Amino acid sequence: MNERITTAVLAPDEEELDRSLRPRSLDEFVGQERVKEQLAVALEAAKGRGEALDHVLLAGPPGLGKTSLAYIVREELGAGLRTVAGPALERKGDIAAILTSLEERDVLFVDEIHRLNRAVEEILYPALEDFRLDIVVGQGPAARTLTLDLPPFTLVGATTRTGLLTTPLRDRFGMTYRLEHYSPAELARIVRRSARILDLEIADDAADEIARRARGTPRVANRILRRVRDVAQVRYDGVVTPGVAREALDLLEVDGEGLERADRALLAAIVEKFDGGPVGLSTLAVALGEEPDTIEDVYEPYLLQLGLIQRTPRGRTATKLGRARVGAASADDALF
Ligand SMILES: Nc1ncnc2c1ncn2[C@@H]1O[C@H](COP(=O)(O)OP(=O)(O)OP(=O)(O)O)[C@@H](O)[C@H]1O
Ligand SMILES: [Mg+2]
Repeated sequence: MNERITTAVLAPDEEELDRSLRPRSLDEFVGQERVKEQLAVALEAAKGRGEALDHVLLAGPPGLGKTSLAYIVREELGAGLRTVAGPALERKGDIAAILTSLEERDVLFVDEIHRLNRAVEEILYPALEDFRLDIVVGQGPAARTLTLDLPPFTLVGATTRTGLLTTPLRDRFGMTYRLEHYSPAELARIVRRSARILDLEIADDAADEIARRARGTPRVANRILRRVRDVAQVRYDGVVTPGVAREALDLLEVDGEGLERADRALLAAIVEKFDGGPVGLSTLAVALGEEPDTIEDVYEPYLLQLGLIQRTPRGRTATKLGRARVGAASADDALF
């Protein structure tokens, strides 16, 4: 299977680009209007009172701007920032060390917060609620609990899976924002902004074309833009016209709705090999020569979102829309 262009998950070599294209203020952050509005009020109020901002939980699929928003919060607060990934906090000592290093009104950004272990979480509860750190010193009958006061700080947690967060942890966030997929118009604005940063000339219709195929996800839009830039540079004079954008997207085999070859193969397999389903995930995985996890996390979400397939207790089925799409495609023999 070739490298996927439309996966929203961050590839290791992309961090640099992601960082350079990241919006730095609420004004630069495109879309998610309600989230921005609510956050702006909360930020202004906290700043006005000279207090730490309430803890913030940012939830939503990969590549929609959670990390960007966390950095913006700290930027707007003018405070310090500590960043850590949930799974990297292995022992109580790890989180205790970070908490005791915080200064008043600092932001602690914990990415993948649904992957914290129990022991670490339990240290966090009083820290979040009362800015208090309880440490047990000694062992057995001689063990004592020491309580340390922490400076008021703001935890910003990010998660792709709110369902996996424990209730006590979830309850300690004063604000929870769920990021939604972006509209094509918003994505087009993001593409134009990124092109400006990359010093790339792009026609408005070309930005629209990329936006339509970016699966509602800024990271995907930026990734496509980068590939489109390659084609513009190697085959043309560097300017991105709608024709150049389409040529690049065809080269990548990303179709008009943002489906890639593997997505189409999955849909076609359900319709043609398994008669529209239901077919079990593991059977489907064998038929496609893919890992079940890959199918579940990478291919299916967008097919589900487009209403082309369904997950049922007995397995995957193609919807009427999905069957029609496969039928149409094999009729003009275009994409399958
Ligand atoms: N609202 C936005 N406006 C402009 N660009 C955005 C916006 N949201 C995201 N981006 C772009 O998409 C990239 C990915 O966003 P970000 O890293 O914040 O996503 P994430 O939700 O943290 O993803 P993950 O779940 O993988 O950590 C950013 O580098 C930025 O360039
Ligand atoms: Mg992130």
